[in-house]
Amino acid sequence: HSYVLGMDVGGTNTLFGVVDTEGNILARDSVHTKEYADINNYVSEIASSIKRMMQDFGGVSCFNGMGIGAPNGNVFTGYLDYAPNLPWGKAVPLVKLFHEALDGLLVKIDNDANAATIGEMTYGAARDMKNFIMLTLGTGVGSGIVIDGNLVYGSHGKAGELGHVIVRPNGRPCGCGRNGCLETYVSATGVARTAKECLSRGVAVDSLLSKIDSDNITSKDVYDAALQGDPIAKDIFDRTGQVLGEAIASFVNFSDPEAIILFGGLTSAGELLMKPIKESLQKNILFVYEGGVKIIFSHLKGSDAAILGAASLGWLL
Ligand code: BGC
Ligand code: NA
Ligand code: ZN
Repeated sequence: HSYVLGMDVGGTNTLFGVVDTEGNILARDSVHTKEYADINNYVSEIASSIKRMMQDFGGVSCFNGMGIGAPNGNVFTGYLDYAPNLPWGKAVPLVKLFHEALDGLLVKIDNDANAATIGEMTYGAARDMKNFIMLTLGTGVGSGIVIDGNLVYGSHGKAGELGHVIVRPNGRPCGCGRNGCLETYVSATGVARTAKECLSRGVAVDSLLSKIDSDNITSKDVYDAALQGDPIAKDIFDRTGQVLGEAIASFVNFSDPEAIILFGGLTSAGELLMKPIKESLQKNILFVYEGGVKIIFSHLKGSDAAILGAASLGWLL
């Protein structure tokens, strides 16, 4: 088989495409997830686009399978478990639905961060790594933990929810219903929340950020201001990196990884984020691991990364 299909289910967009063995995306398409309240319409719309793509690449027999990454995809059951940010209101048997709609093509679903992790092992920086932790820093924070060459799934396929490790007792409210999760500080939305806090506490009056409507401020606004030398914006990235460095120091204790790989939208902040992470890690890491852990950015870039991550599942079928 020469190709796989990859599909990333997001709350806003669903991206999918045809990928070859080298990780080239040869065709792609997308739909607005929220426009499909009916799951059957969603599946048939995507399936008809995918069937056209498969025809262009030799038909279904040239495809090894399709991988689906989703925040709540469950590799054990093949279900997209219930998620508050998706329109279907309950768990859906997505693997079965696509398998049927795509003439018996093999389909695998997994958590989006796990898909990204397998993508990194298949096409990216982790090709030769046996022990690493992937942290995906997007709207939320997800992770994949690889130990001795295997991605850890746990007893329900749910291992590696490191974004919901509580890093600040009684801290910020999280979408999961608890307080102080890592995700509320070091995601793109976490950075925006830090900026909002600065504005509401009045510490940003001289900052470029004060010109932005505080309800709509994004991590990109903070990034742009930091690039222009704004000290408050830079401080927001310093604090983000500090929290992340502390968390990474703790995670290293679990599995002695050779690297922590950072993936997702927030990594476009580059050195603004990397420098404080490294400083914080150095301060907080247990002496036995000192100097032994690399922190690197994913080699899968931009919006392609999600498709590549999902597509890599298609080779495991
Ligand atoms: C979810 C993870 C997911 C991550 C990124 C978190 O809030 O709990 O399962 O991988 O967001 O989408
Ligand atoms: Na995961
Ligand atoms: Zn949480």
